[in-house]
Amino acid sequence: MPNAVFLGTGHFVPDCVVTNEELAELMDTSDEWIQQRTGIQQRRFVDFDKEPMGASDLGTRAARNALDAAGMSTDHVDCIIYATLSPDKAFPGDGVLVQAKLDIPAGVPAFDIRNQCSGFLYGLQMANAFIRQGVYNNVLLIGSEVHSSGLEFADRGREVSVIFGDGGAAAVLGASDDNERGVLGVTLHADGRFAEVLETSCPSSALNPRVTKEMLDTGAQYPRMQGKLVFKNAVQRMPEAVSKVLAEHDVEPKDIKLLIPHQANLRISEMVQRRLGLRDDQVFNNIQKYGNTTAASIPLALDEAVKEGRLQKGDLLVLTAFGAGFTWGAALVRW
Ligand code: ACO
Repeated sequence: MPNAVFLGTGHFVPDCVVTNEELAELMDTSDEWIQQRTGIQQRRFVDFDKEPMGASDLGTRAARNALDAAGMSTDHVDCIIYATLSPDKAFPGDGVLVQAKLDIPAGVPAFDIRNQCSGFLYGLQMANAFIRQGVYNNVLLIGSEVHSSGLEFADRGREVSVIFGDGGAAAVLGASDDNERGVLGVTLHADGRFAEVLETSCPSSALNPRVTKEMLDTGAQYPRMQGKLVFKNAVQRMPEAVSKVLAEHDVEPKDIKLLIPHQANLRISEMVQRRLGLRDDQVFNNIQKYGNTTAASIPLALDEAVKEGRLQKGDLLVLTAFGAGFTWGAALVRW
């Protein structure tokens, strides 16, 4: 049975840097509050006046960079898996939009998955299963978000709008006979009883009409979150998932070269690190620069870690995520 190995990673973020001070001009917040509570110093937003872009555009450029890093042409991609909570359109999904923009041959399947901050890990589990079973050889896995056009930059939305940023990132996974390397295991979980704790409720097929002026007036088109409850669950579930995947493969935390936690909040990452007993050099964070880019956050951090030389062949890499749904999980990879 072949193993699924990472052949290349890439990312793309818009040029426009938005600082905490700039957000403080739009709503009652401050650089101090945002940094103290989240560690975020700045994020990237699409500049809709200069160059409007949807999540599929960021995903396309990220995918192009990942394919270049893998030295692979689009002709060799035989499956696309695309994770986002901010697709360009209600339908069709961004996966087919990326396929057309990259000119990936007609007939190649494109999956769209909706697992928010855990999207990349859910996609990784699918890619791994497809590759190990011989269904597909080269899977293009993308996570991409444009949050900035869907946030409420006013006091009512401040708890949510200060944490998100725009970005896209991708990885190419391919079949390898080297049974020492690749994705060793992925553990995924969900608990839909918490679905309303973090959600955007409108437009909704459960409503007719799906959106009204009254709904827009209440801000139902914007994400709402019970931040403290999300925080509490995130710092419990991520260490749990990491411990599970490590135990399944007889790996001790001290043997991990790098942990990349989903970049939701630096305080969450620090607490996950403490609970797992990891040193600072074993954990990679870049939320300070990008905020929470949801499905893009893990591959964006992974690509930066790779480019900084933080991973060498044979190193043990752990990825973990927690987000809306609730959904969460962890993956163990031999680089
Ligand atoms: N600026 C200034 N003050 C603010 C802001 C803001 N942007 N937002 C909220 N406040 C206020 C609150 O109103 C509250 O005021 P009060 O005490 O007068 O009521 C005060 O600051 C403290 O608010 P808390 O809710 O206690 O702040 P907390 O320390 O919990 O931090 C935060 C809030 C950063 C959102 C935190 O709860 C968090 O990170 N939660 C998890 C987020 C997350 O991981 N989301 C999952 C991923 S997203 C996805 O899956 C789509």
